[in-house]
Amino acid sequence: MAIVVRENRFLLNTNNNSYAFCVDGAGYLRNLYWGKKINSIDEFEIDTINEVSTNDPVAEITNEEYPAHGSFRYKETCLKVQFGDGTREIRYQYVGHELKENHLKVNLKDENYGLEIELNYLVIEKLDLIERWTVVGNRGNQSIKIDSIYSAQVHIPENNLRFRNSFGHWGAEQQGFTQQVSHGKIYFENRRGVSTHNHNPYFILDKNADETNGEVYFGVLKQGGNFKGIIEQTQYGHTLVQMGLNDYDFQINLDSGEEFVTPKLVIGYSEKGLGNMSHRLHAYGNSIMRNPSTRKVLYNSWEATEFKVDANEQLKLAEKAAELGVELFVVDDGWFGRRDSINDGLGDWWVNKDKFPEGLKPLIDGVKKLGMDFGIWIEPEMVNPNADLYKNHPEWIYSSHVRTPEPSRGQLVLNLCKPEVTEFIYNMIDNLLGENDIDYIKWDVNRPISETGGDQSIWYTHIMKVYEIVDRIKAKHPKVLIEACASGGGRTDLQTLEYFDDFWTSDNTDALDRLTIQRTYSYVYPIKAMRAWVTDCPNFLSKRVIPLKFRYHSAMMGTLGIGCNILKFGETEKSLSKEMIAQYKEIREIVQNGEFHRLENRSTNTYEIFQYNHRDESLLYLFLPMTKIGHKGTNVKMRNLNPEKIYTYSLNGKEFKKSGNYLMNVGIEVKLEGDYSSTIIKFN
Ligand code: DGJ
Repeated sequence: MAIVVRENRFLLNTNNNSYAFCVDGAGYLRNLYWGKKINSIDEFEIDTINEVSTNDPVAEITNEEYPAHGSFRYKETCLKVQFGDGTREIRYQYVGHELKENHLKVNLKDENYGLEIELNYLVIEKLDLIERWTVVGNRGNQSIKIDSIYSAQVHIPENNLRFRNSFGHWGAEQQGFTQQVSHGKIYFENRRGVSTHNHNPYFILDKNADETNGEVYFGVLKQGGNFKGIIEQTQYGHTLVQMGLNDYDFQINLDSGEEFVTPKLVIGYSEKGLGNMSHRLHAYGNSIMRNPSTRKVLYNSWEATEFKVDANEQLKLAEKAAELGVELFVVDDGWFGRRDSINDGLGDWWVNKDKFPEGLKPLIDGVKKLGMDFGIWIEPEMVNPNADLYKNHPEWIYSSHVRTPEPSRGQLVLNLCKPEVTEFIYNMIDNLLGENDIDYIKWDVNRPISETGGDQSIWYTHIMKVYEIVDRIKAKHPKVLIEACASGGGRTDLQTLEYFDDFWTSDNTDALDRLTIQRTYSYVYPIKAMRAWVTDCPNFLSKRVIPLKFRYHSAMMGTLGIGCNILKFGETEKSLSKEMIAQYKEIREIVQNGEFHRLENRSTNTYEIFQYNHRDESLLYLFLPMTKIGHKGTNVKMRNLNPEKIYTYSLNGKEFKKSGNYLMNVGIEVKLEGDYSSTIIKFN
């Protein structure tokens, strides 16, 4: 049974792990255990906790499931509210629970006010994951203001852990870092409303885990927009983590009878290191994707043409793309309104007649005739002050309406909390899809929210409205895939994945930088959603020149796209592109659906090595960005193969047959020669 409830004790079991808590004698919801699977909840000794001193009170010492502001709690708390009479302290009691299959609800109620708190635990046995979230209800007569709310707290009975997340900025997302947890707190967050390249909403904590060994505690918040995570090592040698909505400039009003549901925090424990964590999170990510179809090879002209899109040029590009084997042709920014630069057009979603005199139809028909799907770029949450939409509706933006609004990238943010604005956006997209044979949308967002006026709930509401619009669009146009882009990879999170289909991982398309970005991305997010393009050299950002084959191999780690000016391709580029795209189509089931491994490099030369396993086939990707003195090869020990199976593979033009057992234990020797050399080896 996934969930066992015995008196006031709760045991949540996944296939390999357990999570336990109780209501103790003093009425606290006390965490008892999180780790490897245990058999019984009855063996726990639930001692009375006495204060150590007046400065170490019981509320402070108890490992609570969901501490709320009030009483002797000086640690971080999960919930802070203001009641109608100004009281800010919560004093709740456990009032019962509900159990329905794998879903447990624990009900708490304030002793004096109409505040109800429902803690939710949904056990996903086969993925060894638990979803946690909280519902707060107002059953009183007066409204309640929520000042801060987190989805959950986890308690880890360890200190001096190592925290892992990503940092970055535009063009440099997903740079992994580790930070020693010690006394004091670590905060990581997003305050920008729409997106962030800075940190990602997850925590990974371990002591000395590597890819295959060691204990890892992790949690991923299913929330785009503003979030906050807090890691607190307590005075008592334990570690607490809270994740939820950011309380920065935040307040939500709950009227009598209303409820607020937090985002979900997906938590897990691995005793087999980071690789096992990633496999389970990838499986989770894949399970929430609405459209599991094989992702097509796309062409996007943004880097090649920027705003200079026009029907003839795009058709020429489409013809070349089709010749290379591209399956989806995407027109990026610049096709609408008076959009010749960043300073106009957003909001005016009519087709630019100078660029497309007969509308989009001739291009779409042309693309379809060439056997490709058609995709188009939009940035629906924004408006340029020069656009007609703004002239007609200056009141539709976030602003105090007293001060002059401040554009960024020449644009302002539409106030999605206004129903007429969300209706406008929904209708615009619905019409675009209704009037044109469009298979794919790239939904971009290129600036953060600012100037929110008086309403502190917009940070949360804005992103929920985005999801609501996408949800309605998907319901009406279920076959259309939608890519989440935010100045590159600023909208990469699990909740976005529940609504959107793909992530644009970064505007940084330098094939070497991408290895860093893609490695960190792969800790949490599924490979199928990772869009990666091959673009021209010197790269616009790094100014680096990298051979085309290495660029292809790097982009073939995810869902392949081409962003080069293919009209300028010579014969060599053309034939290599055809070969690479054909190879990608052959291996993409393994790439997109496989179990992904970050392998160890045992060489003094810095190889980057990745492996994908799918059914009884495998792929090895090896990259050697720079050969160093000694020009060493590397010994690659593969992971999780079938030890009995004899795998066939080719290396340096020679065919080999080796057992899974041999490949995992003895490994194979691979030597790449020269800078920016790379290879993909298939095992079947
Ligand atoms: C930012 C995106 O990340 C790019 O790929 C491109 O779509 C531009 N916006 C277009 O303005």
